[in-house]
Amino acid sequence: MSKMLAELFSMTKHLMVGVFYASQTGTAKSVAEIIKNKMGKYIVDVVYGSLDELKIESLNTFDVIVFCIATTGKGEFPDNSYKFWNKVRKIYVKGGCGSGDVFGGMEICLLGLGSSEYTSFCGAAKALYKRLEKNGIKELVETLYVDEVRGDMEEVIDNWIEHVVKTIKKKQMENQNLFIKMMCD
Ligand SMILES: Cc1cc2nc3c(=O)[nH]c(=O)nc-3n(C[C@H](O)[C@H](O)[C@H](O)COP(=O)(O)O)c2cc1C
Repeated sequence: MSKMLAELFSMTKHLMVGVFYASQTGTAKSVAEIIKNKMGKYIVDVVYGSLDELKIESLNTFDVIVFCIATTGKGEFPDNSYKFWNKVRKIYVKGGCGSGDVFGGMEICLLGLGSSEYTSFCGAAKALYKRLEKNGIKELVETLYVDEVRGDMEEVIDNWIEHVVKTIKKKQMENQNLFIKMMCD
């Protein structure tokens, strides 16, 4: 790559990607960690943590948020996500999300982890999805609810992770191309 092109690339706005988990016994956290590590290889800025570490006020700073959400109790949110859920469940942006509001036009990739042996299968992930959908938030990748009763759970999750990483990488490339085109026009 020429020096000039390299400089152009470094000036490009990096995508701001959040990878957040709601996890009681560590599975969703491990999935989020894998995604965070894979994302790190591309020129995106990654913020990683539990859902309770995600501040409502900072939601609109993200281009994409990847949510890995387990369910505990009887369809409840894990302990490290309850505070966030209690705030976000009350948010309703009239007319759907846009660049100026609390969600700032972000897109989501949402993975629900649960077991169909429980009455409320993936209850927490589904509740979060519903709330975000009501606010007009778009999926970058189709939401997936994984049932641990299925024998192929790991494979299904691995495929979803690959799809998420590829899609975010593609979005970053499109961003760069747009920027370079603007500079060259
Ligand atoms: C005490 C307990 C309660 C659970 N309740 C639910 C539930 O209501 N709905 C569901 O879909 N899965 C439920 N699960 C399954 C978990 O969501 C699933 O095992 C998940 O992979 C755990 O992720 P984590 O290790 O990140 O917490 C429950 C599991 C446990 C141990």
